Amino acid sequence: MDREPLPRLDTAPELVARLLPYCRLKQGEIWEDAVRGHRVGVLDATSWPEIVRLVGERRARLLMSDPPYNLAVGGRSSGRLFQTELAEYLKFSRSWVENAGRILDADSHLYVWLGADQNRSFQPLPDFMLVMRGYPELRSRSFISVRNQRGYGTQSNWMSVRQELLCYVKGAPPFHVVYTAIPKILRGYYKEVGGRRTENLERSRSETLRPGNIWVDIQQVFYRMEENVPGAYAQKPLAAVERIIRSSSEEGSLVVDFFAHSGTALIAAERLGRVCYTFDIDPLFAELTIRRLERLRALGKTGFQTANPFPELHSSS
Ligand SMILES: C[S@@+](CC[C@H](N)C(=O)[O-])C[C@H]1O[C@@H](n2cnc3c(N)ncnc32)[C@H](O)[C@@H]1O
Repeated sequence: MDREPLPRLDTAPELVARLLPYCRLKQGEIWEDAVRGHRVGVLDATSWPEIVRLVGERRARLLMSDPPYNLAVGGRSSGRLFQTELAEYLKFSRSWVENAGRILDADSHLYVWLGADQNRSFQPLPDFMLVMRGYPELRSRSFISVRNQRGYGTQSNWMSVRQELLCYVKGAPPFHVVYTAIPKILRGYYKEVGGRRTENLERSRSETLRPGNIWVDIQQVFYRMEENVPGAYAQKPLAAVERIIRSSSEEGSLVVDFFAHSGTALIAAERLGRVCYTFDIDPLFAELTIRRLERLRALGKTGFQTANPFPELHSSS
């Protein structure tokens, strides 16, 4: 028996066709939340006119992006497909990055999740980094690796367990220190303070560690977790997104996510008192995003775990 009520929606076109009538937004439409002013759209990250309609005059303190890592281009036979795909991917990247740059506040943060395909020269990570050099107003700030706790087991290579998170800033935005729940256990780093020899634990501001740029303490989402959204195939952990929001925005500020998918940025923004504008090119994911917020407000749950986000499916079958 399947553990989840919906399969990966990108691999189930017939099911998608059955679900589409239940999606309240069509291409180009924007839903506005009457309670907190969040917005969710079915928009294209590469379309400036659509993005202007979403944000109006407002500018983002924080823009998070988790773009698709690969775009399907043509058939799969050409030996040059890799280059074609990559060139196409970089064109797509430039387009959304330019749009992102235009709606960022004068002092703001940009976070981009990316992967590196170890079987194809680690694309698109290094190529994307080079693209970013074309935008000097977006300065590189940190390069975070997030450990994926559920990497593939393999006996023939190093286990592939990480995702990359690139951090850029525009201007000089504030950064707020956050902490993990990992206790500090190492002692023995001594320093003289006011003529007295002190040890690191007595100097520290917290009992727990700061995250640093290698995050090992965040569990990947899987079907048993409350935050799980069935049908979403690339859901980011709420804990990671909340860490980004806490450190790089303030209460009441605008957080934007160009690739909503399961709506993690919206849920995190709602829980942390920020306003979120987000969208997905696919109406199904925009619908899942709105339903996830409605569920949070109705039941206090961060996701659907193993419940079906589209219960109408049962009543109509
Ligand atoms: C990797 S997922 C984002 C995952 C998200 N961070 C989460 O935690 O659920 C990428 C999403 O981008 C959407 N997408 C692809 N091309 C897009 C475009 N041009 N504009 C907006 N969204 C797009 C896909 O439909 C997919 O849902």
